[in-house]
Amino acid sequence: MTDALKLGFGPFAAPARGVLVVFCDDGLTFGAATRKALGRTADLVARAAKAERFTGKKGASLLLIVPEGLKVARLLVIGTGKVADLKQQDLVKLGGGAMGKLPVTTAEATIFAELPVGAMKPEQAADLAQGVQLRAYAFDRYKTKRKDDETPPEKRSIIVAVGDVAGARKAFVSRDAVLGGVLMARDLVNEPANVLYPEEFARRALVLKKAGVAVEVLDVKAMKKLGMNALLGVGQGSMRESRVVVMRWNGGKAGEAPIAFIGKGVCFDTGGISIKPAASMEDMKADIAGAACVVGLMQALAARKAKVNVMGLIGCVENMPDGNAQRPGDIVTSMSGQTIEIINTDAEGRLVLADVIWYAAKRFKPKFMIDLATLTGAIIVALGQEYAGMFTNNDELATRLTKVGEATGEKVWRMPLAPEYDKMIDSKFADMKNTGGSRWGGAITAAQFIKRFVDDKTPWAHLDIAGTGFDSRHSDINRSWGSGWGVRLLDKLVADFYER
Ligand code: BES
Ligand code: MN
Ligand code: ZN
Repeated sequence: MTDALKLGFGPFAAPARGVLVVFCDDGLTFGAATRKALGRTADLVARAAKAERFTGKKGASLLLIVPEGLKVARLLVIGTGKVADLKQQDLVKLGGGAMGKLPVTTAEATIFAELPVGAMKPEQAADLAQGVQLRAYAFDRYKTKRKDDETPPEKRSIIVAVGDVAGARKAFVSRDAVLGGVLMARDLVNEPANVLYPEEFARRALVLKKAGVAVEVLDVKAMKKLGMNALLGVGQGSMRESRVVVMRWNGGKAGEAPIAFIGKGVCFDTGGISIKPAASMEDMKADIAGAACVVGLMQALAARKAKVNVMGLIGCVENMPDGNAQRPGDIVTSMSGQTIEIINTDAEGRLVLADVIWYAAKRFKPKFMIDLATLTGAIIVALGQEYAGMFTNNDELATRLTKVGEATGEKVWRMPLAPEYDKMIDSKFADMKNTGGSRWGGAITAAQFIKRFVDDKTPWAHLDIAGTGFDSRHSDINRSWGSGWGVRLLDKLVADFYER
């Protein structure tokens, strides 16, 4: 099991220690097992609710310390609002919310997975448990000290009490697999660039072999042979060698064309010779969020043995200024044969994607492709940190991505592609230039650039995750800087529409 903390399922039984977490609706109604566990303490809860004006609204909570009549140290009551309104995602959030309300001292907690209408279904309890784990994750491997009263996550244990223990454990298996993928993606994004350089990224992707993923690593020599000069140009100023990692999960029908996911993995983006300002440059260790999502997704799909053929490809480079770095004005020939004039060395992500996308299409002839990249600051200006920008040549893909986005809370907003924008990247000297010439429509001209490396017949979507991949608004189910955005979205896309 993936452990942000120790979590298990058990039957409804009043715990003797720690924190007891129970749910009530907006009529302050509890389920039968909860009522039984509370016994006469229910009166106390009613009085406390009145005193605190707690009405059981969704997400609201009430904490009682050393509650008379119970053995536990604390009783935490959490509101669900109207039970009929609860969607799948709300249960994940409820779990995350419950985890967030536990005092940092908590070593043991028991969560009663019960609604006023009765025990949660196994799937609901499993969603709740996944929410707990998503919220519990903290990237603290470089912290050598801790606040005195804080219980370290690995010393915390949580029991989710359910009606059907075996059923909940079974339903949790696939949620646990996806959780593992999300946490892996978060780890990768949070890791600093002195640790996570392209070769190390490739090594971490090789770990997926354990889950049954075939992993292949292309080194600089192999990439030179393939003619990936757009990607190699970005990495040429770095002491760290570039890598492309190719991951394959064959859970579908033999011989059926795969789906391909492609991620931008710029391990650090200084901007290169067109160097970035110092303010917040440290954030650019997260310029691998697209690649991190692809690796996490592959891990998730393999761990839950998804019945689908899927490829994951990531382009890993470091964008540095150096005597050997690429210059503005340089012209490179991409693997596709198209030439690119480099106007701004900070528009490097599209150069990396150009070669990896071309390679993915030529070698694997995928059914469709989705790329993810922290590609432009412009998408953050347009959409903020709530929605990722979605650019696609295919309406069906747009509809499906939008739908799973709403369902998972990892939302996408469709942005335009059009010939007028495409014209903006024509170059005086080469087939195209790597920026649009002005800042206007910066996310769109970047997408138009990538589109030139996708043939019109292949359905393709580009997700610009610069606003959502890291430092996004903290939510009930995430307190981590690196969000792991996209793993749950794309896992659901595959599960709902493409598994046999
Ligand atoms: N990695 C950045 C985009 C980015 C910026 C991601 C802020 C997350 C937060 C990308 O490589 C970049 O530098 N884009 C430039 C493009 C410009 C030079 C055309 C940008 O957005 O400013
Ligand atoms: Mn850049
Ligand atoms: Zn970048």
